[in-house]
Amino acid sequence: MFSKCIVIGASSGIGEQLVLQLAHPSRTVAAIARRKERLDQVADQARGPVLTYAHDVTDYDAAPELFEGIVEELGGVDLVIYCAGVMPSVDEGEYNWAKDRAMLEVNLLGAVRWLDLAAGQMEAQRSGTIVGISSVAGDRGRRGAPVYTASKAGFTAYLEALRNRCTRYGVDIVTVKPGPVRTSMTEGMKLPFMIDADQAAAGVLKLAEGGTGTGYVPKIWSPIMGIIQHVPSFIFRKTNV
Ligand SMILES: NC(=O)c1ccc[n+]([C@@H]2O[C@H](COP(=O)([O-])OP(=O)(O)OC[C@H]3O[C@@H](n4cnc5c(N)ncnc54)[C@H](OP(=O)(O)O)[C@@H]3O)[C@@H](O)[C@H]2O)c1
Repeated sequence: MFSKCIVIGASSGIGEQLVLQLAHPSRTVAAIARRKERLDQVADQARGPVLTYAHDVTDYDAAPELFEGIVEELGGVDLVIYCAGVMPSVDEGEYNWAKDRAMLEVNLLGAVRWLDLAAGQMEAQRSGTIVGISSVAGDRGRRGAPVYTASKAGFTAYLEALRNRCTRYGVDIVTVKPGPVRTSMTEGMKLPFMIDADQAAAGVLKLAEGGTGTGYVPKIWSPIMGIIQHVPSFIFRKTNV
């Protein structure tokens, strides 16, 4: 279905698996992240053409030229997935500006920078699919991760607004909220219903093919978060998450 794809945050974890699962002789994938050598290793394993680009998403001014250059090299674009993210460990009682800023800059501002560019392009061409990898974490403000949850809640709200803007122009906006996934981000953590990165990527691509909307990966998180979202605040604040 897709033939010209861009994955931002493609050097490890879910993004790496997205590139590998998208890769096909009839499709070109542009893979973006800071670690170029890791991107090139992913490209070497892929079953189809993968172009690699070293880029830090916090270099906001560099994004437009890079986006335009990639679209030119691909000969267009029909899928953009924003998967870049950071979640440094934050101790109870820790208020760390450097960590908090990094999460907002990569998870939210970088996403807005790249997906605004994608939305402008796709709105003009009247077609395309934009996928944002948000998180179940954005569904409630958690005491264990105030700014990570805020960055994902902001990303989810941004994607909803983008959907309300762009769907009328034939552009699909897909919000994906994965539960815990085994990647370097969750190394050493034991979390419920944890899945592997290849399973998460397969779930993301299924949702992308399904068109505009929001989905949980795996699906079990939909009823769970439906309940958690309705837990009264005075009870939720007593939990350990
Ligand atoms: N793992 C989970 O349990 C889980 C659950 C829900 C949602 N998510 C979300 O899924 C996404 C992927 O995470 P993951 O679990 O696959 O973690 P990961 O393996 O650590 O992958 C993170 C990706 O983001 C890229 N990235 C980070 N900072 C960047 C920057 N400044 N500029 C460009 N790229 C940057 C990394 O590439 P470089 O370091 O090479 O730049 C890497 O490719 C994230 O948005 C995360 O919040 C993860």
